[in-house]
Amino acid sequence: EQRVLTGITTTGTPHLGNYVGAIRPAIAAATQPDQQSFFFLADYHALIKCQDPEQIRRSSLEIAATWLAFGLDTDRAIFYRQSDIPEIPELTWILNCSAAKGLMNRAHAYKAAVQANEEAGEDPDFGITMGLFCYPVLMAADILMFGAQRIPVGRDQIQHVEMARDIAQRFNHNFADVFTLPEAVVEDNGAVLQGLDGRKMSKSYNNTIPLFESEKKLRKSINRIKTNLLEPGEPKATDNSTLFQIWAAFADDSETSRMRQAFADGIAWGEAKKQLFELVNDHLAPARGYYMELMDDPGHIESVLQKGAQRAREYSVPLMQRVRDAVGISSMG
Ligand code: TYM
Repeated sequence: EQRVLTGITTTGTPHLGNYVGAIRPAIAAATQPDQQSFFFLADYHALIKCQDPEQIRRSSLEIAATWLAFGLDTDRAIFYRQSDIPEIPELTWILNCSAAKGLMNRAHAYKAAVQANEEAGEDPDFGITMGLFCYPVLMAADILMFGAQRIPVGRDQIQHVEMARDIAQRFNHNFADVFTLPEAVVEDNGAVLQGLDGRKMSKSYNNTIPLFESEKKLRKSINRIKTNLLEPGEPKATDNSTLFQIWAAFADDSETSRMRQAFADGIAWGEAKKQLFELVNDHLAPARGYYMELMDDPGHIESVLQKGAQRAREYSVPLMQRVRDAVGISSMG
């Protein structure tokens, strides 16, 4: 049995990047035979970036509704909330005690925060919490807890999965062969989807296209994608074009070739945006109605998550016992 695992941080509204980078490949993987998948709401991770409890609650609901709206089969996949698994923070502490600080110094998110401080002439540690610094260890605990081999993520998370692998290797070497070594699985198409302004689509940059806004708003968002000043009839480059990239992430090969040709033939930006809206909207519309219903029924979502947590703990409780035994903190009796 292969184990697939991935999580989404519960800050902000899920967007096209989350879908293309994580949700879509994860749901596809979950339908394969001989596969057990673990998908979760990373709400402990949310605390690192967000001190607004209402936002975290809202985002948790939106992200859960998103997975379900896309048809995640929760009888097969184990779908849970990170904070419902008390073994995760427990494992995090134990991993903290064997993870190298030097490894954490190299984590992108932490380095970016230090660099931003330096550029602003601040103390390098300004505003940096231990949560941010240790973020990859919490993520390693998420992954190693369930013996996951395959981790479908966007390109931005590869480093964290590699760190989890590193931490697992070190632990196995120091104590006992407890952990499976995980591997990131990255989609070729749109591994890092660009946002409205051409930077990586990200909640932190405020440049996202939310998955389930109304049709009208989706059209507006797509019209806001930044393009250059080339006129209709002038050939347009597909490289580095957010518009083309989103197209390729949603279209099949023949539709992608057709759009590539249309770019070469100088399609007008307005026309390209109109076609992109139709493509994306056709793709999302069937799930949108179900999403709206789910958002009105938090009680249902909660019961799905509780059931998921119960199943997840059938894995996490015994694993944690093995870890305690391995490090010497299990009972003496
Ligand atoms: P998060 O919440 O930032 O993003 C969730 C997933 O969406 C992917 N993603 C993207 N993919 C393509 N293009 C984009 N523009 C884009 N933006 C986001 C991310 O790569 C990710 O796969 N730390 C993780 C959550 C996490 C996790 C885990 C993931 C916690 N524990 C264990 C895997 C395994 C995060 O903050 O992702």
